[in-house]
Formats: sequence, structure tokens, C-alpha cells
Amino acid sequence: MPGIGKGTRIYTIAISCIGIALLVYWTSNISLKGEILRGFLFWAVLSVMIESMPIYLSRQEIVTLGFPITYASLLIYGPGISSWVAICGAIIGVGRSKKLKIDRVLFNISQLTLSISIAWIIYQKSGGTLITSNSVYSFFPLVFSAGTYFLANTFLVSTVIALQQKASIFKIGLFSFKYTTLNYLAQVPIAILMAIIYRQISWWASLFLLFPIFIAHYVYRLYANLQKQHLDTIQALATAIEARDSYTENHSRRMAEYAFLVAKQIGLSINEAETIEYAAILHDIGKIGINDNILNKPGPLTEKERVKMKKHVKIGANILTRIDSFKEASRIVYHHHERYDGKGYPDKLKGKEIPIGARILSVIDAYDAITSERPYRPARSAKEAIEEIKKNAGTQFDEKVVKIFLKVLKQNVT
Ligand SMILES: [Fe+2]
Repeated sequence: MPGIGKGTRIYTIAISCIGIALLVYWTSNISLKGEILRGFLFWAVLSVMIESMPIYLSRQEIVTLGFPITYASLLIYGPGISSWVAICGAIIGVGRSKKLKIDRVLFNISQLTLSISIAWIIYQKSGGTLITSNSVYSFFPLVFSAGTYFLANTFLVSTVIALQQKASIFKIGLFSFKYTTLNYLAQVPIAILMAIIYRQISWWASLFLLFPIFIAHYVYRLYANLQKQHLDTIQALATAIEARDSYTENHSRRMAEYAFLVAKQIGLSINEAETIEYAAILHDIGKIGINDNILNKPGPLTEKERVKMKKHVKIGANILTRIDSFKEASRIVYHHHERYDGKGYPDKLKGKEIPIGARILSVIDAYDAITSERPYRPARSAKEAIEEIKKNAGTQFDEKVVKIFLKVLKQNVT
């Protein structure tokens, strides 16, 4: 894991201080007895239940459907109880991570309290009041404050990710909006209805609104399973390549890990980084169409054999282009032997004409080839490989990619 930078530390400490101060302030205004105590327990149990059903969309994206619970409790009891309801759910999230990191827990609690507090202030300023058994509600305060909660939450979390990855806050925020806006929009009416029904009909009637939440959960699960099957297919294809070429065992898997990290550090989105990761796993799939005598030849190739070997990029791209979701990966695979100075193959592309994924793969592929044992030479050390790559930065490789790759390498060794 990369260490936490100074900027991230200052930011998380600042948010934690503000969040904890707000939590203390709101908590001092709560009198936890009677109906308020019963209400708190009801919403806290729901929060824990929903947060204990996370859906892993990818290794970095976890979806939970806890917003309606937090927001409904805000409309009924205000920011103090709502913050504690959200914290009860967040504690379940803490239990999911392998290592307990107090600063991370504090930041999470604080950003939730801060988002709830901002949403509450907007709600009150726009004329909203706590929902009671005979309240009259206006549409705008409810929608404004729900929107504010979403914006504040996205901004606070995107900023910490951007600082950690040294990427643009705008880019990370935009990516997050793209994937979560619809999810939030669907949850807002559920939250509002849950609060109104809880207050004006009964606590058990508000539980009916858990059904759409569970259905959404089920659909997300199906989607996550589909994603997993997609990845399994890729891994199966990679195993097929490795079975043919005995000298590259684990090669594509190693490359894929580095490719993902480099792509992320360059500032690409998770989606783009995953495409590059898939391309890394499958970059040599075209070797399936290369003769065994050439592929496993225990010595350097002749010119004629090299020409045949070069065809693996075209064969690989042709295989992948037939699968819709691998169209972009296929372009990366096709160009992974281009050189930054235009002396590569198959199209002799130069500089930025080469897709960024292909520029990343060429650096990582070279590093892995140098440090791997070949039938005609032993593996060389990581230090020698780094020297070789540095020497060729700006000619064979993109200098910026080399710089980031060496950084990633260092972070993963130390
Ligand atoms: Fe290759």
C-alpha cells in the first residue's frame, strides 16, 4: 500500500476534527429516552442490517443501500440521531476491512456527520422541519437537502481518493457521479416515504419500503456476478495462453497488476484502468496462433521467425475484437509492441498516437521480460531491468509512463 501523503493527512485530520466537533455538538442536544430511544434503535438496526449486505462491483467499488435509512432518520429526528444511525452502519463497514485503521474510521464517521449536517442546514434554511404525525411538507427542501447530502458525500470522499492517487478531484468526482447518481435518485423517494409512513402510519408500514431496496440489492448482485463471470472468462483465456508458452507462466497476471496500478496513478478512471488490466492479461493471446517451434525455441529467433512471431498482435486483436466488451482492450493489444519513437510494430505509431494502454503495457512487458528466465538466458535483476528501461525512456518508451511505473514498482517493493 502506498503511504499516506502529507496532503491526504492534513485533509483527513481537518475533516475528522470538524466531523467529531459536529457530532459532539449534535449529540449534546439529544435526550435519548422514550420514543426517541425506540426510534433510534429501530433505524440503527435497519442501518446495520443494510450495511451488512454490501455488493462488490469491482475491487474498489462497494455499493450499499443505506442512504434511505440515514436520510429518513434525519427527517424524523434531526442530525444527531441520524449521524449515530449512519455510524452504526459504518461500524459494520469497518468490520469488513482486514486492518482496523483508526484514522480511516474517524474520517468515515466524520464525513458522514459532515454530509448529514450540511444536508440538515440546507433543509432548515429552505424551510424544512422535522416530520411529525401531522406535518405538511414542501417538495423543495426535501429534494434540495437530499441533493446536498449526495454532493457533500461525493465531494468529501472524491477529494480523499484524488489526494491519495494524486489525481484530479474533478475526474474522480465525475466518475463517482456517473455511477452513483441514478442509485441516489432512486433512493431519495424511498427515504422520504419511509420517514412519512413511519411518522403518520406506523413503524411496521415503513418496513414495506425495504422491498424496493431489497430488489435493487438483488439486481446489483446479479450485475456483480456477471462482472465476476466476465473476469473469470478472461482468466481462463490467460491460462490457455500460459499453457502453450511455458516460459511466460504467471507473466500476464504480474503484468496486469502493474498495468492497473500505473493506469490509476496516471489519472485514468477505474474503468479505463480495468480495460488496460484486461488487455495486460490477454496481450499475448495471439501467440495461440504461433507455431510451437517458434514459441518455445530455446534460442534467439531468426528474421523469418521474428516476422511470424510479430503476427501475434494482429491475431490477438482479431480474437478480442469479436467480444463486444473487449473492443478497447483489442486496440491496446494490437499496439502493445509499438515504440514511442515510431520504430515499433505493427503500425509504426509514434508518441501520443499510441493508445495510452499500449504505452503502459510496453514498459511493463519489457520489465517483466528482462526479469524473467528465458530458455537461452537466466533472469536479470530488477536493478538491471530498471536501468534498461530508464535508458530507453523517450525513445522506446513514453517517459511519463516510465516515471510512474518506476514509482509503482518502488511502492510495491518497499
Ligand atoms: Fe507481445
